[in-house]
Amino acid sequence: MLYLITGATRGIGKLLADNLVSSGNTVFGTYFSTAPEQNSLNHEVKSQLFLSRVDIRNPEQATQWVESITRDSADNIVVINCAGVNYNAAIQNSDPILWHDVLDVNLFGVYNVIRAVIPYMRNIGFGRIINLSSVVPRIGVYGTSAYAASKAGLWGLAKAVAVENAKYGITINTINLGYFDIGMIAEVPKDYLSDIVKKIPQGSLGDPMDILKAVQYLVSATYITGAEININGGLV
Ligand SMILES: NC(=O)c1ccc[n+]([C@@H]2O[C@H](COP(=O)([O-])OP(=O)(O)OC[C@H]3O[C@@H](n4cnc5c(N)ncnc54)[C@H](OP(=O)(O)O)[C@@H]3O)[C@@H](O)[C@H]2O)c1
Repeated sequence: MLYLITGATRGIGKLLADNLVSSGNTVFGTYFSTAPEQNSLNHEVKSQLFLSRVDIRNPEQATQWVESITRDSADNIVVINCAGVNYNAAIQNSDPILWHDVLDVNLFGVYNVIRAVIPYMRNIGFGRIINLSSVVPRIGVYGTSAYAASKAGLWGLAKAVAVENAKYGITINTINLGYFDIGMIAEVPKDYLSDIVKKIPQGSLGDPMDILKAVQYLVSATYITGAEININGGLV
């Protein structure tokens, strides 16, 4: 089994990549602006982690990356689309270029990777695609119109791709995350964060290892496709 993870040198993508490599899997990861840390894993383990610089907004780069892995492979592939960005602004104050860039990374970027990998998956008759979405489009959060639109878009994208590929052993599912103690949560101001935590029924940020558990479940399951798993401590 080969794992392809976008955004693998930071945040959730790095956590997933490190854990999957540590448990003996081969991981092909991408980074964009965060160069891989030297010696972040021991030598033996590092030999199963292959990192490439890819801007997922660019269809050619995404395709080239996927094809460089699949060209000489016959292995089953799992794609985990972790790369994502946020932009906070009330819509009337928002900058159209920055707003559009969120859609470009979070939705078009995911499309670019999926579009590139589907022919290979159909050919070998197996595929697992897991996209990371959010609780934000479901609950409505001030200043997040771009992020919410992009993450809600992933739900529809997954449902269509699920139907198109259901007969080829390919599943595609979405994990809707609440607020986790990792990654882009660092961008949230402290006061605002404590208000968020007060609203979470379980009373704390999520443990990122729950995301790994959901990934492992979706990889092993065969009859779940076009679905969403909510991991949010009861925040709805
Ligand atoms: N953390 C949370 O609580 C939370 C909650 C809900 C949903 N999520 C979702 O989970 C995913 C991971 O979040 P995170 O917290 O780990 O975020 P993060 O730490 O901010 O990491 C974002 C990742 O996206 C990559 N990226 C950004 N622009 C890119 C581009 N144009 N091309 C390729 N890669 C690009 C970054 O790569 P570089 O650093 O190399 O540029 C980085 O690895 C995101 O999709 C996010 O929306 C997270």
